[in-house]
Amino acid sequence: MSLVSDKDKLMIESTGFDVENIRKDFPILHQKVNGKPLVYFDNGATSQKPQTVIDAISNYYSSYNANIHRGVHHLSQIATSAYEEAREEVRSYLNASKKEEIVFTKGTTEGINLVAHSWGRANLKAGDEVVISAMEHHANIVPWQMVCEATGAILKVIPIDNKGELILSDAEKLITEKTKILSVMHVSNALGSINPIEDLICLAKKVNALTLIDGAQAVPHFMVDVQSLDCDFYVFSAHKLLGPTGVGVLYGKLELLEAMPPWQGGGDMIKEVTFAKTTYADVPLKFEAGTPNIEGCIVMAEAIRYWRALDHDAIDKYEQALLSYAKEKLSEIDGMIFYGTAEKKVPVISFLLEGLHPYDVGFILDKHGVAVRTGHHCAQPIMDFYGIPGTIRASFSFYNTFAEIDQMIDALHLAKRMLS
Ligand code: ALA
Repeated sequence: MSLVSDKDKLMIESTGFDVENIRKDFPILHQKVNGKPLVYFDNGATSQKPQTVIDAISNYYSSYNANIHRGVHHLSQIATSAYEEAREEVRSYLNASKKEEIVFTKGTTEGINLVAHSWGRANLKAGDEVVISAMEHHANIVPWQMVCEATGAILKVIPIDNKGELILSDAEKLITEKTKILSVMHVSNALGSINPIEDLICLAKKVNALTLIDGAQAVPHFMVDVQSLDCDFYVFSAHKLLGPTGVGVLYGKLELLEAMPPWQGGGDMIKEVTFAKTTYADVPLKFEAGTPNIEGCIVMAEAIRYWRALDHDAIDKYEQALLSYAKEKLSEIDGMIFYGTAEKKVPVISFLLEGLHPYDVGFILDKHGVAVRTGHHCAQPIMDFYGIPGTIRASFSFYNTFAEIDQMIDALHLAKRMLS
């Protein structure tokens, strides 16, 4: 069965986005699962990797693996240059003004924890307020709860409406002189809603509050410019953006990073250590204690190079066409309930089939080669809001096709017949 349908061919012509060619870059997509062509719709959890990224991992270990920054030998110098070139690639990709504003982390979660524990513990005091939203991933809830508990600050939550959109009129009331930081996700992982972060950043600026944007689910779908957003911090993970796991980025405005205390202590983050006193390295190394994920950072830069070379207007049109087609086909199934119907969405659809447990449906989809995610998607407060234990989430990427959606729809009809 070809996973490029006549509909794909029409879209290739109308958007100029050649999905058939793109799919050749992703070796993992060309396999069968349970005897059916693999349909990978779990991109919100992690993306697949193009061959250039896979090759970059092998090239690093077969050509110049060495520890960085402290070695005078040849391999260490090559690895150090590649690591620092990766930082420059990320700077240019995010349009940050300075390379020192790019801190390498383990991923989005570590980026948020770094800001919460370093900036938060040093600056928050009893009665200050931290504002998040009701659709946050646990990674943007729990670190703030921990810091609020330690400092006496108060956590405030911008509510959402039934469509899965933030209620801006409530945000206006919640963001006040007491707000010290607003930390919100750019795009909802569970629902796909694209949040009006420009408006929220404006509201925060009016009261001199800092802003942290969790970009984990935004960067796989559109380009981000931190200077134009004028946020104070922006975080993301490489693995959702075609790169490896265990590595990510914290962008922070230089003067803020410089004023923040170190979070973790160890090698590479110091200037001088004596038993009497330690002085710290300049940013960003102040926040990169220990041997970092050298290969991960270098390969993340390769993933970003691949991503930047694509036609983003065409990707946007193509992904929106996938979203509309999936929505139309899913709507034809009896008992379909959608969660998250925001006006502006990335291609993510969360749904349930009335009377059926999401895990049972997910299990049958897998038997038909279709990989979706089922559960609370690390966003339990959203599930509580809708009064459900979880959803079935199909999250698409630019390498997915209309024929793959057809394969999922057929499998859902079958699941319905088997489970009803
Ligand atoms: N946060 C990831 C997701 O949404 C794991 O699936």
